[in-house]
Amino acid sequence: MSEGVQTPPAFTKRVFSGIQPSGGLTLGNYLGALKRFAEVQEQDYETVFCMVDLHAITVWQDPDKLAHATRELCAGFIASGVDPKKSVLFNQSQVAEHAQLAWIFNTVARMGWMQRMTQWKDKAGKNTQNASLGLFAYPALMAADILLYHATHVPVGDDQKQHVELTRDIAAKFNHDYKVDFFPITEPVIEGAATRVMSLRDGSKKMSKSDPSDMSRINMTDDADAIASKIRKARTDPEGLPSEAEGLKDRPEARNLVNIYAALANQSVDQVLADVGGKQFSEFKPMLSELAVAKLSPISTEMARLMRDPAEIDAILRDGADQARAIAAPVLERTYEIVGMVR
Ligand code: TRP
Repeated sequence: MSEGVQTPPAFTKRVFSGIQPSGGLTLGNYLGALKRFAEVQEQDYETVFCMVDLHAITVWQDPDKLAHATRELCAGFIASGVDPKKSVLFNQSQVAEHAQLAWIFNTVARMGWMQRMTQWKDKAGKNTQNASLGLFAYPALMAADILLYHATHVPVGDDQKQHVELTRDIAAKFNHDYKVDFFPITEPVIEGAATRVMSLRDGSKKMSKSDPSDMSRINMTDDADAIASKIRKARTDPEGLPSEAEGLKDRPEARNLVNIYAALANQSVDQVLADVGGKQFSEFKPMLSELAVAKLSPISTEMARLMRDPAEIDAILRDGADQARAIAAPVLERTYEIVGMVR
C-alpha cells in the first residue's frame, strides 16, 4: 500500500473495504477498487472485503435487483482476482454484528457530525425531511464495518475520505468516553489520481453507473464491441499525445484515457507517454481498446460463468460470513462489556 502510512503498532495490519451492491460495476470500480484489493491481498495485510447491502438500502433498492446485484458484485470481486481463500469476502447483512455495533455508534456520533457529511447533503438533496433515517446514520454503520475488524487501513475513493475521518472521531470519542484504548484510529488510504476513472464524455466527472449516458462508462460486463465503440467515441481534444505527464495538464479527457491505459498496463503515466507521445488519438484509441478488451474480457467471462451458478456464489458468501463473524463477534462482545451491558 502507499508509503508513509503509519500503522498503530498494537493492531494487526488489516485492510477493510466495502462496495455497495447497488447495481452495475464499471471500469471505475475495477481500477479504483477491485484491482487494488486483489493487489493488497498479496501484501503484508489481512484483507476483509464486504458487499454492503445494509448501506445500499439507505436509498430505495428493488429487492430482486438487490439480490442480483449482490451476487454480481461478489462475482466481480472474484473475477478481479480477490480470492476467497486469501481474503474474507462476505455480505454485510449476513453478519448481524454490523447492525449491532452501528447502534452503539449511533449513540456515540453526534447529530452535528452527521449533518456536516457532504455525501449526506448531496444524497438527501433539498428535501432532507424525506430522506431515510438510515441515510443520515449511514456513516455510523460504515464506522461499525471498519471498527468491528479493528481495521487499520481503509482503501476508498476520495468521496469516502470524510466518512473514514468520522470513523476516527467515533473511535476516539468511544475510547475517550469509556476510558479504553480499544478501537484503532484507522488510516484512510485514498486512491491516487491515476486510478480515479473519469467519465468518457466529461473528464471532470467521475465515471459512474448512475450517469444517464451508457457511453460515459465502460461496464465490467461490456463485450469487446461495446468497449471498442465507447473508446472510439470517447471525448478528446484535438491535440496529439504529449511525451510527458506535464503535457496533460488542463486536458482532463486526454489525461483520463492515458490514466486508464497506464492503470490497465500496470505502467506509470510517464512510461506510457514515453511510448505513445507524439501519436494522435486516432492511433492511441485502438491501442487502448485492445488493451481494455484484453484485460476486461477474461473478467467479464469469469463473472458470467460465476453468475450461471448462484449456489456457488451463495456458498462462498456464507463461508465468508462465518470467517467475518469469527473476527467480529468477540469485538462486539467486548464493546458491550465496555459499555456496561450485562452479558
Ligand atoms: N460508503 C462506501 C461507498 O459508498 C461503502 C462502504 C461501506 C465502505 N462501508 C465501508 C467503504 C467501509 C470502506 C469501508 O463507497
